[in-house]
Amino acid sequence: MPERFPASLQQKIEDRLRYYEDLGIRLFYTDRGPGGATLVAQEPIDSAFSPAPVHEETVLPKSMPKPVPAKVAPVAPPFPLVVPPTGPSLFETMEKVTDDTLLKIREDLGECTRCKLHRGRNKIVFGDGNPKAQLVFVGEGPGADEDAQGLPFVGRAGKLLTQMIEAMGLQRKEVYICNVVKCRPPENRAPEPDEVASCSPFLMRQIDSIHPKVIVCLGATAAKTILNTTRGISQFRGEWLEWRGHKLMATYHPAYLLRNPPAKADVWKDLQKVMAELGLRLPRKSKS
Ligand code: URA
Repeated sequence: MPERFPASLQQKIEDRLRYYEDLGIRLFYTDRGPGGATLVAQEPIDSAFSPAPVHEETVLPKSMPKPVPAKVAPVAPPFPLVVPPTGPSLFETMEKVTDDTLLKIREDLGECTRCKLHRGRNKIVFGDGNPKAQLVFVGEGPGADEDAQGLPFVGRAGKLLTQMIEAMGLQRKEVYICNVVKCRPPENRAPEPDEVASCSPFLMRQIDSIHPKVIVCLGATAAKTILNTTRGISQFRGEWLEWRGHKLMATYHPAYLLRNPPAKADVWKDLQKVMAELGLRLPRKSKS
């Protein structure tokens, strides 16, 4: 890829474009002339940075000498511009996106019919807890109890999650809990890729608006969605990872622990790492 910018700036811009893509934004302004802005679909990042193709044969007959370029010829940027030159910078625009609130995200979600899961749902399960939480837990999707109540993790797996949170010395209301998909998949099956694709931009916005110090992914669906990986969770469970400035820990889903209690020891090890990161101490046992 030809380098048009210092490598660090190029990397920053690439990261921003990926971020937009994660949010589901694929339309960008290329030009804001007198007639207004022109919208174009975002190109894939690699090609967006390639120089524009030169159709030499259609413009210049082979026999003619090539024109000497004017000294101060305006150089078109090799990628679509997101903002007009006189408007806010790309990075200021991003601040607006991260000024998002959970309320606004919930409003944007609306009575969602973006994927087929809406057909079987009773209630949308958006998320619950402290909008300024230092710690966010992300599960897979609502089950029957969550679908009935409109709240995440309130069934059997949810009770175990509450115990895990309390064992960390926290109360449920101090953290934020949400899921990759907001509607219950039929028969509690794993959400399908198109369902995850429709719903995950809302999850990304939720995390960005809360801006937690630590994200804990409960199970493979959450971890694979956020990290955009196909690697199995056992390959990175319990390791500190980084995602867009947040520390991320993937661990087993509480529903898995209900079926496989010995795995609780691994999860507790992972949660102790999270506690250390958040400066939480194990409650002292009172002397009797
Ligand atoms: N399992 C999940 O992944 N999320 C819930 O909200 C409940 C069970």
